[in-house]
Amino acid sequence: MKKTIRWGILGGGRIAQKFAADLEWVKDEDLRAIASLSQKNTEQFLKINPSATLYTDYESLVTDPEIDIIYVATPHGLHYEHTMLCLQHNKAVLCEKAFALNAAQAEKMITEARSRKLFLMEALWSKFIPPYQKMIEMIKNGDLGEIKNVLIHFGFIPQPPIADRIFNPALGGGTLLDIGIYNIFYAVSALGLPDHIEAFMSPAASKVDEQCAVVFRYNNGAMAQVFSSYATHLTTEAHINGNKGRLRLSHRFYTPDTKMEFYPGRSDEPTTMIHTAPTSGFGYHYEASHVGDCLRKGLTESPVMTHSNTLELMQIMDTVRKKAGIIFPADEKRK
Ligand SMILES: NC(=O)c1ccc[n+]([C@@H]2O[C@H](COP(=O)([O-])OP(=O)(O)OC[C@H]3O[C@@H](n4cnc5c(N)ncnc54)[C@H](OP(=O)(O)O)[C@@H]3O)[C@@H](O)[C@H]2O)c1
Repeated sequence: MKKTIRWGILGGGRIAQKFAADLEWVKDEDLRAIASLSQKNTEQFLKINPSATLYTDYESLVTDPEIDIIYVATPHGLHYEHTMLCLQHNKAVLCEKAFALNAAQAEKMITEARSRKLFLMEALWSKFIPPYQKMIEMIKNGDLGEIKNVLIHFGFIPQPPIADRIFNPALGGGTLLDIGIYNIFYAVSALGLPDHIEAFMSPAASKVDEQCAVVFRYNNGAMAQVFSSYATHLTTEAHINGNKGRLRLSHRFYTPDTKMEFYPGRSDEPTTMIHTAPTSGFGYHYEASHVGDCLRKGLTESPVMTHSNTLELMQIMDTVRKKAGIIFPADEKRK
């Protein structure tokens, strides 16, 4: 019989509620407790899982001996503080993306987990969904030939009530860490780490990036162009283009229900492959299930979403921010 993994959730906002709902679909994994500072979130959670323990402060959750792993679902600017709080109370952690505000914070979080032999993973859920895995399989099989360029965009206009984290620099606001991270992750998945990075942004009133354009150039001539925006709605597509064929992931390329089409050779007619959407829920059960398997095996690091993967992403985003002039208060403190 499989050991049941006992989850706690720290922070009860939008994504926490979706993750909690998806845990219901994962066998041998239970949501045991939620820590939320707000009455409104607490009430929502009571509807999702009436049997879970509800804490009104985060300290009570991290000291609960009945919890195996905590899902940190606060804004990026608080991931460092909250992940450290969990680790220092000897709790394993699944931390939402973006993992931290910068690579320096990410390194400290990873060092803390390793020194305590605790599991720690960034919740980059797209890496666990079937369309992403199919994309990687096709690239590895050589179905696209040599990848020459990657074009990705992701955009939406935030609608009221707009969460504080969207534009607040202290919380890591702006498109880059929120949605640009998916663009960068898919570009790196297709082409590897870039040799050169250029980036520009246009600022929101709070000075974080309202729009961010990034170009990767590779020494073999390949290029990636990725763009994120809170100024307009975009179709949010990824195009992975090789000299033998190309892939188009349309309508929210980073989700399980993206429509994925393969265009062989010079064809404008796709061989359509529509991937099975999750039978239930939003699709967070793929990563939750993987984390449960890692914990049962006694792993302290996921073999799929490794610590190096997280550090590389954070380092790229540090470079993008430097080139584009995206500054957070946490950067000032490091000087
Ligand atoms: N994987 C995905 O698909 C996905 C999707 C959306 C967001 N995310 C990531 O998940 C994280 C949270 O995003 P979200 O959309 O859920 O945000 P959200 O709705 O604003 O929720 C964040 C929660 O963090 C808690 N919190 C504690 N201190 C806070 C502070 N000073 N300011 C604001 N909130 C504070 C609050 O929960 P309590 O009051 O209940 O304690 C708040 O509701 C972000 O890092 C984001 O990038 C991931």
